[in-house]
Amino acid sequence: MKNLSLVILLCSALLNILTVVHGSLQDDPKQVELWFKNLANRKQKITKLHFYFHDNAQAKPITAVQVAQSNITFNSLSLFGLTMMVDAPLTTGPEPTSKLVGRAQGFYGFSDQHERSLLMTLNWVFTNGKHNGSTLSILGRNPVMHAHREMSIVGGSGVFRLSRGIATATTYCYDGMNAVVEFNVVVIHY
Ligand SMILES: *[C@@H]1O[C@H](CO)[C@@H](O)[C@H](O)[C@H]1NC(C)=O
Ligand SMILES: *[C@@H]1O[C@H](CO)[C@@H](O)[C@H](O)[C@H]1NC(C)=O
Repeated sequence: MKNLSLVILLCSALLNILTVVHGSLQDDPKQVELWFKNLANRKQKITKLHFYFHDNAQAKPITAVQVAQSNITFNSLSLFGLTMMVDAPLTTGPEPTSKLVGRAQGFYGFSDQHERSLLMTLNWVFTNGKHNGSTLSILGRNPVMHAHREMSIVGGSGVFRLSRGIATATTYCYDGMNAVVEFNVVVIHY
């Protein structure tokens, strides 16, 4: 009896160590607490990601829908107040048929009265390989007509817990309603 409880104790200790060492994608609050307890022993890592975002307001399949506008939105060249909700694929290449790495989910709105610039509030939900199930949260300004737009990554979950980073957006193609946008991402995580 005593031996059995000792074995159980050792097994659960081993499981805890394994979870702490390898991290866990489970959102079990105990696992999250353990992960924080061991944070001082974790090394900071830098991860780079590269993918394309397919923003279709008109082309099939639709990935962005209008959810709000103001009474001056369509009198304004900058579309001030127009707000879109998106659930759009992220792929390794610019073609919509290229390999899926995840989805961009959230909303963006035209937040500048003078030029076309978006407030981006999105989560990237990764669905592949070692990032499967992990997310990154983006909050930033995206002046869409500029060649390169820099946005902040303010957090993450799963392997990206406590992330901070920068996402750089470059328009790959745009026809007035639909866009493919290239993203280069650098994040610090643990
Ligand atoms: C837009 O709505 C505001 C608040 O209701 C109003 O004061 C303003 O006159 C409206 N503007 C236009 C262009 O209709
Ligand atoms: C990602 O994880 C989900 C849930 O665990 C699983 O069903 C799916 O097969 C995984 N996808 C890949 C590509 O590994």
